[in-house]
Amino acid sequence: MSEAVAVPRADFTTEQDWSAYSAEEHAIWRTLFHRQQEILRERACPEFLEGLAGLGVAADGIPDFRRLNTLLEAATGWRIVAVPGLVPDDVFFGHLANRRFPSTCFIRRAEQLDYLQEPDIFHDIYGHVPMLMNPIFANYMQAYGEGGIKALRLGSLDRLARLYWYTVEFGLIQSPAGIRIYGSGIVSSKGESIYSLESPAPNRIGFDLLRIMRTEYRIDDFQETYFVIDSFGQLFAATQPDFTPYYDQLQGTSDLTPATVLQSDLLLHRGRGRPHEAPEP
Ligand code: PHE
Ligand code: CO
Repeated sequence: MSEAVAVPRADFTTEQDWSAYSAEEHAIWRTLFHRQQEILRERACPEFLEGLAGLGVAADGIPDFRRLNTLLEAATGWRIVAVPGLVPDDVFFGHLANRRFPSTCFIRRAEQLDYLQEPDIFHDIYGHVPMLMNPIFANYMQAYGEGGIKALRLGSLDRLARLYWYTVEFGLIQSPAGIRIYGSGIVSSKGESIYSLESPAPNRIGFDLLRIMRTEYRIDDFQETYFVIDSFGQLFAATQPDFTPYYDQLQGTSDLTPATVLQSDLLLHRGRGRPHEAPEP
């Protein structure tokens, strides 16, 4: 394929060029897939596992977006579009508001299996797309895109971005069998899939929309606090109202650091903190 094909369009989309992946790149996908398969069987929420199965995102290698899109469009009307990397906020929200999920195409290198700062195709596809097979979550993501455009206009994107972080990327959910993972940033990470549920270090707090929009987050390490929803219906219902008065209300409150616990929190587990942060014996 010629270089010109890779030049992004005005909406930053490009082509996946599936036939160009090397055997080594497919092998990295398989390794990541097998690892997560083991870990997530008892840790991811049923909706994620059902979405994954429904997409036939399998161990054979990096999936072809064209094949996934046939299944995804039939299920919820969402579509994956290829992008070269992070795109500007307004472009990103415009895609979500139109049920297009922007995905990167490159896969991490073999030395980066455990940790990567930026999203790659394993994070974007394995992490995000299964949840887009769920009708309620699919609607939530579209509404989030519309809300993003509004938050940009109102100068409140920093608030709304925290909601994405603590739900879409790092969300946990109650299930009859116990707390389960739905956040994409967790399911695409071996270490955090275990840590988020089993480590005594982080706080686990019941979902509270305004509380989340006050809470800073860290992008360079495992989270110090996770927020746990009761159901996707709860998440969707809580985010239906117009956020304009919420943004106004939040002007009068201070931001909270990621490890803060408030009296008013629905505290499911109080984190003991990371070992290096624990008080001296
Ligand atoms: N209801 C929100 C608003 O008016 C939009 C939104 C929906 C934000 C879903 C996040 C998630 O801004
Ligand atoms: Co992501």
